[in-house]
Amino acid sequence: MRRRLGRECLYVPSCRLGLYLALRHWCPPGGRVLMSPVNDDVIFFVVLAAGLRPVQAPLKAEDGSLDPAGLPDSVWQGLSAVLTTNLYGNPDPAPELRARCDRLGIPLLEDAAHAIGSSVGGRAVGTFGEASVFSLSKHTGARTGGFLALADPSLRPALERARDELLEPSRLSAELAYGLRPYAEAGVRGLRLVRAARATLRLLGLEERAEIRMELRPGELKQALSAAPAPAPPPLTDFHSWIRVDMHDYRRRPGSLRLRRTRRLLGRLDTRLAAHRAGTGRLLETRWAVPRPGRPGPVQPLFRVPLLVADRDAAIAALARRRITVGYLYDPPLDTYAGEVFTDPSPAPERAAWFARHALPVDPLLAEQVISVLTELDAQPARAWGERGV
Ligand SMILES: Cc1ncc(COP(=O)(O)O)c(C=O)c1O
Repeated sequence: MRRRLGRECLYVPSCRLGLYLALRHWCPPGGRVLMSPVNDDVIFFVVLAAGLRPVQAPLKAEDGSLDPAGLPDSVWQGLSAVLTTNLYGNPDPAPELRARCDRLGIPLLEDAAHAIGSSVGGRAVGTFGEASVFSLSKHTGARTGGFLALADPSLRPALERARDELLEPSRLSAELAYGLRPYAEAGVRGLRLVRAARATLRLLGLEERAEIRMELRPGELKQALSAAPAPAPPPLTDFHSWIRVDMHDYRRRPGSLRLRRTRRLLGRLDTRLAAHRAGTGRLLETRWAVPRPGRPGPVQPLFRVPLLVADRDAAIAALARRRITVGYLYDPPLDTYAGEVFTDPSPAPERAAWFARHALPVDPLLAEQVISVLTELDAQPARAWGERGV
């Protein structure tokens, strides 16, 4: 990663922990952080856990990217940092955000979890900010690990110390569970037991997301936020139950099994990115894709391709009948989900809500199967934002 980005990189057990480290390092406690409302709710809780106030940004309706021009100057003036999302690998306008942050003297932090091979104007996503964080669970499929990349390499020792203070010790049982999980899941899939397995988890109360968004539990969240007297940030452990969702080992020191698998998968990254780029190109030719003029330059190796369909839930159901699971849905946007007690709402929430409702994030490695299901369903593309009439 150091060679790819030309930046000093620090291994972290998860992107979410890397983001937490970056927010704690660069933002003053109580600061306000601009973020995308169409984002994983886990990241919202990471911002809160870092003792910061999330401010939801306006988005472009066609691809869910941040729209810097849509944010009033008065809101810009009150920010302590900007956190990008690069949703599904579509880059946020990093040069423009960099220029804004420079003018305001605030840091730009890049969440590059979805954007490991993406670029803006020929420059890699993750090389614009003071810091950027990558997830190795996504393109590489390692289900663990990430990198914090630093513009200033001299900060590495301080961040390494901060990381080590947050790590939980490596545990044999956690390593074994990590090592065996892909085989167990393949077995369940092979036996066509996926639905039964899900129902069992639900019965046992082990399913953390009954809906797209996890349960907010506002009473407990308020309590966690008020645990430490301002300006000290609250203890991270008070936020475990929100931050660990989908990855309970998010702060576990990796054992040799994890590192070996991660290294092997990372070694195949270029092949994987080429396959993502090919699938993305194929999906972008379909009638459900965002017209390309909005995205000049080469096709990006997207992590997911957000097709825009009129009836997204019908498309998800049709795909589920063919055993294709659609993940990475972020609906409703975070301001609707969490409310004004926990976040400043976006000044233009309608576009984000429209995108979140219609976006069908398609794995480009499954491009042909998904195209065939959508064609058979005769799925209608969502009408472009400007001509909705609703
Ligand atoms: C946009 C985004 N950022 C960060 C993360 C967190 O990545 P990790 O699971 O490696 O902590 C996710 C997880 O899905 C994500 O979707």
